[in-house]
Amino acid sequence: MSVRIAPSILSADFTRLGEEVRIVENAGADLIHLDVMDGHFVPNLTMGPAVVAAVRKVTSLPLDVHLMITDPDRYLEAFVQAGASMISVHVEVLPHLHRTIGAIHELGCRAGVAINPATSPIFLEEVGADLDHVLVMSVNPGFGGQSFIARSESKVRAVRGLLERTRSRALIEIDGGIDVHTAGRVVAAGVDILVAGAAVFGQPDPAAALRALRAAAIAQQTA
Ligand code: DX5
Ligand code: ZN
Repeated sequence: MSVRIAPSILSADFTRLGEEVRIVENAGADLIHLDVMDGHFVPNLTMGPAVVAAVRKVTSLPLDVHLMITDPDRYLEAFVQAGASMISVHVEVLPHLHRTIGAIHELGCRAGVAINPATSPIFLEEVGADLDHVLVMSVNPGFGGQSFIARSESKVRAVRGLLERTRSRALIEIDGGIDVHTAGRVVAAGVDILVAGAAVFGQPDPAAALRALRAAAIAQQTA
């Protein structure tokens, strides 16, 4: 399976959101990543289910909803109804993670767990086999355009090892500071899905930027 690319609309021009999504879809994006922030778990506020529903109307791509919120359980149904195809919740806010993963699956959605840079993959040990994806944060969540934390590369290798050990088929997604320089390194470490905001929507030509990112990732895959 070749690497998938999920442009994050956090860096898109919100006055032209539909057009921006169509541009990356036509340029070969595999998913659309939507960052939901509550000003509590992370120091920023972004979007809710209404924006997910609006994006759902303009694309047939799967919607990858990343919940950076303190109480994800309360909003799962709303995001699935809005059109989420996959939901990532943060292990750092969920003492009953197993129950939350079950609730996402019961809603007919793919379930993933996100881990912050300071969180050990060991917290995934008991749920690895239940997951559809693991989201490795390669920046501290809250803002687009931050620099990739180099240690995330070895974190991906550790997650890959854990998933093999727990006989999990979960995909590994990485989020934060992914660009043409970092994409190849993380793909070599075992990443399946690259999230990219500033490296796509922050560029003058997002379609060309997306193709350049894929070329950088594929060069590594075939090397
Ligand atoms: C950060 C978000 C990311 C963000 C990535 O908290 O979870 O999805 O949009 O942005 P870049 O690719 O600009 O680091
Ligand atoms: Zn994200």
